[in-house]
Amino acid sequence: MANKSLVSITDYSKEKILQILEKAAEFEKNPNQKILDGKVVATLFFEPSTRTRLSFETAVNRLGGRVIGFADKSTTSGTKGETLKDTIKMVSNYADLIVMRNPIEGAARYASEVSSVPVVNAGDGANQHPTQTMLDLYSIKKTQGKLENLKICMVGDLKYGRTVHSLIMAMYHFNPTFSFIAPDELKMPDEYKIFCKEHNIKFEEHSELSEANIADCDILYMTRVQKERFTDLFEYERVKDIYTLRNKMLDNTKPTMRILHPLPRVNEIDQDVDCNEKAYYFEQARNGVFARQAVICDLLGL
Ligand code: CP
Repeated sequence: MANKSLVSITDYSKEKILQILEKAAEFEKNPNQKILDGKVVATLFFEPSTRTRLSFETAVNRLGGRVIGFADKSTTSGTKGETLKDTIKMVSNYADLIVMRNPIEGAARYASEVSSVPVVNAGDGANQHPTQTMLDLYSIKKTQGKLENLKICMVGDLKYGRTVHSLIMAMYHFNPTFSFIAPDELKMPDEYKIFCKEHNIKFEEHSELSEANIADCDILYMTRVQKERFTDLFEYERVKDIYTLRNKMLDNTKPTMRILHPLPRVNEIDQDVDCNEKAYYFEQARNGVFARQAVICDLLGL
């Protein structure tokens, strides 16, 4: 049962990305419209979320649609043994669009194959988070005035961080230079470095979050160490506080540089950075509503 879903950011061409960003800008100017009148969107969150679920639900509410769903899988018939396939088939009887987060990599692709309505991947394990990427691109374009020829420094858990994986694949359209800053245990996986090499994307790797290593970047993309992906909690304890970005480290960065973070943050950005004009992560999360409004309308052909 093929349908138009958003499972990976690679489902979008460069033209489609730019078109969605334009739509998002229109929604930012006018977020309250009745475009989804009569439509029902299901948000199925098999993993915790604050921003993604609530910004999707806000996006639908502001467009006049209705939301059904769950934020806690323990309240569903999955606890009685119902399969993901049956759950998706049932929900696609009720809703016009399904937004799903699931800890299993590939779960969103599978759901899109068994659903009769479009499925949006709201994060599948350490794999992909394409709507986060759309709001990241929107935030980058808004703060830098362009997407082309930027240096993006990605810091932290580059192994399990699905947002950095999606962002690399989207930025390849725009001639980026990447700097990957991670401890050995959390380095960018080979498949993404191979992707960069195959597409002639320049990248460097560092293991230290130092002033010198962030001095020339346009975007400093911080990430949380993803505790929930570790099989060995001793390993997590060893790396969880490996980097903390502090205000004084930003003195010699470019005046136009902006700090992004998909959030939630734990200790990787000190609270004293929040007042720095280079901190953009809370505005970035706000942009999620507009980017998701644009994605929803596109998937529903509205
Ligand atoms: N950025 C993001 O996915 O946040 P949540 O886990 O709160 O949805």
